Amino acid sequence: MLLLKVDEEIVLKAIEIDDAAALFAIVESNRSYLREWVPWVDTNTSIDDSLAFIKSSQEQHNQNLGFQCGIWLSNQLVGVIGFLCVDWLNKNVEIGYWIDAKHQGSGIITKSCRLMVNYAFNEYQLHHVQIRCATGNRKSCAIVERLGFIKEGITRQAEFLYDYYVDLCIYGITADEWKVRGSI
Ligand SMILES: CC(C)(COP(=O)(O)OP(=O)(O)OC[C@H]1O[C@@H](n2cnc3c(N)ncnc32)[C@H](O)[C@@H]1OP(=O)(O)O)[C@@H](O)C(=O)NCCC(=O)NCCS
Repeated sequence: MLLLKVDEEIVLKAIEIDDAAALFAIVESNRSYLREWVPWVDTNTSIDDSLAFIKSSQEQHNQNLGFQCGIWLSNQLVGVIGFLCVDWLNKNVEIGYWIDAKHQGSGIITKSCRLMVNYAFNEYQLHHVQIRCATGNRKSCAIVERLGFIKEGITRQAEFLYDYYVDLCIYGITADEWKVRGSI
């Protein structure tokens, strides 16, 4: 099983079938908070929906297209971070994440994201990592900027949040840049 240690308290583990109930419970208790910035909340309404997400993540991993990890804080599931499908041809990948509202504000996502970027460059030997955040998602943009990513542009009305579109800010970093800026 894939397990990445972030620090003494936080580990990232490839999400598994047995995590479905815990995963759904976090979504259920964070519905309005998550809904502000992620588009899949209304289509995740039962444990079966979380299970379907986990199965498709496992399929993604089996096909060597990246993976989705549960973020575990002292053995408690608090969020998810993962790679969107790895583009092996162009050697790039996008990272996505979310965390239980109760566990915001302590750097868990920044630290987990740093580890995932290291994985993309060191294990997968990719060339470019991208993170896309809604322009109004100040907290998410702050994470990416804190990690030293470069703002590459804005794609307009690229995400549909239930009844309106938001512009996404595209952040990216190359392997060479990460060596210099990734430790900031
Ligand atoms: C976006 C989201 C992931 C941000 O979470 P977060 O808690 O702000 O991110 P982090 O875990 O990196 O924590 C950063 C905060 O911890 C603080 N912090 C404490 N210790 C830290 C450390 N060692 N390293 C980095 N930051 C640290 C930072 O100063 C920052 O505080 P601030 O919010 O007061 O500025 C979260 O709000 C979320 O899941 N939102 C809903 C879904 C979403 O928007 N997903 C992203 C879509 S692009």
